[in-house]
Amino acid sequence: MLQNNITVGVVGSGAMGAGIAQVAAVAGHPVVLFDSNATALEKAKNNLTATLQKLQEKGKIGNAAEIIGRFSFAADMNAFKDCGLIIEAIVEKLDVKKTVFSELEKIVAADCVLATNTSSLSVTSIAAACTKADRVIGLHFFNPAPLMALVEIIPAVQTEPSLIPLAKALMLQWGKAPVITKDTPGFIVNRVARPFYGEAIRIYEEGIADIATIDWALTTLGGFRMGPFTLTDYIGHDVNYVVTETVFSSFFFDPRYKPSFSQKRLLEAGWLGRKTGRGFYNYAEGAIMPEPNKDAALGQQIVDRVVAMLINEAVEALHLNIASAADLELAMTKGVNYPKGLLQWCDELGAEEVLDTLDQLYNDYHEDRYRASVLLRKAVNEKKKFL
Ligand code: NAI
Repeated sequence: MLQNNITVGVVGSGAMGAGIAQVAAVAGHPVVLFDSNATALEKAKNNLTATLQKLQEKGKIGNAAEIIGRFSFAADMNAFKDCGLIIEAIVEKLDVKKTVFSELEKIVAADCVLATNTSSLSVTSIAAACTKADRVIGLHFFNPAPLMALVEIIPAVQTEPSLIPLAKALMLQWGKAPVITKDTPGFIVNRVARPFYGEAIRIYEEGIADIATIDWALTTLGGFRMGPFTLTDYIGHDVNYVVTETVFSSFFFDPRYKPSFSQKRLLEAGWLGRKTGRGFYNYAEGAIMPEPNKDAALGQQIVDRVVAMLINEAVEALHLNIASAADLELAMTKGVNYPKGLLQWCDELGAEEVLDTLDQLYNDYHEDRYRASVLLRKAVNEKKKFL
């Protein structure tokens, strides 16, 4: 199972599938790439050839022709017959994914591992489509897959436990930074990162500060690479809002993950961000970008609030055994490039200060959204650090 020389199959040749296929081929595997849309497959073939050529010119990989030679571009799924691992990266629809998984099972050998790159569906419910569900696992790559090191490994309820270390070893061999996470909504990154967007939008909606000021505070004072409004405009509100809404409903409507009307209206208006020329910001030619209010005290208040909410999410994830402390730190630094891990951030600020910020918010608002994790309270009472 999952030997170094296995043939890797990838279903879906879109942004993620093509990227994952590239990673596997560069790592030395023969790769079979399949897409139900012939035009998409042709496009992926051309892009992969051009990308690998460029990487060779830059000296980042060896012989591009040799790596391209490892690919076969398949017109039907029977080409997956000899694969030892298949990674599915098709449209994010449970019924379509389930159909593909049950079709795959009819083609592959009994020991072929079937992985899904889903970012929001339950791996357990995808595995349930298979007769041999213990061979199914989640391998969640980040976009762009060749550049982002993080891979979240998500065992389903049915997954054979011995598959987990094998998947981890393979990802390490591919040069990735694997973390292991429970099959719960958003896994690690898409769960713990929610307040970066949600709390920032809340601060904006309350009129505490405008978008340019919040972005300025979180980048300049907070050390984040991009502010939440610039970042969601970049990701696209169709993608980012849908993740928020999915996480919110998947958590049985926990108010901590409540989506915002500001972002929903952007989506309804078709103001999806950079790709449509308008989102929170206006990217039209000649449009004037708003200037931030560089008031240090206001900026710090924004950073303290957003960072306290992020730390609380990470601590609560630790409390619920979603992942280990080390994996939580790795996920947030490698998956969304946070300036430091959130548990380290908590240790540096002091759990007491973080708890004070949250309790102050809770006292002011009386909203469940601001409830502090019991583990954070315990850390304060027992004067413990997380790392
Ligand atoms: P995409 O839309 O770029 O590509 C999906 C591809 O799958 C298309 O080429 C489509 O023709 C093909 N396809 C659809 N149904 C198929 C079927 N039944 N059989 C074979 N091929 C089929 O989508 P993208 O962005 O690559 O996402 C793919 C998966 O990866 C989704 O599950 C998504 O949630 C997940 N993901 C996406 C990330 C992102 O940032 N785009 C990040 C991490 C995970």
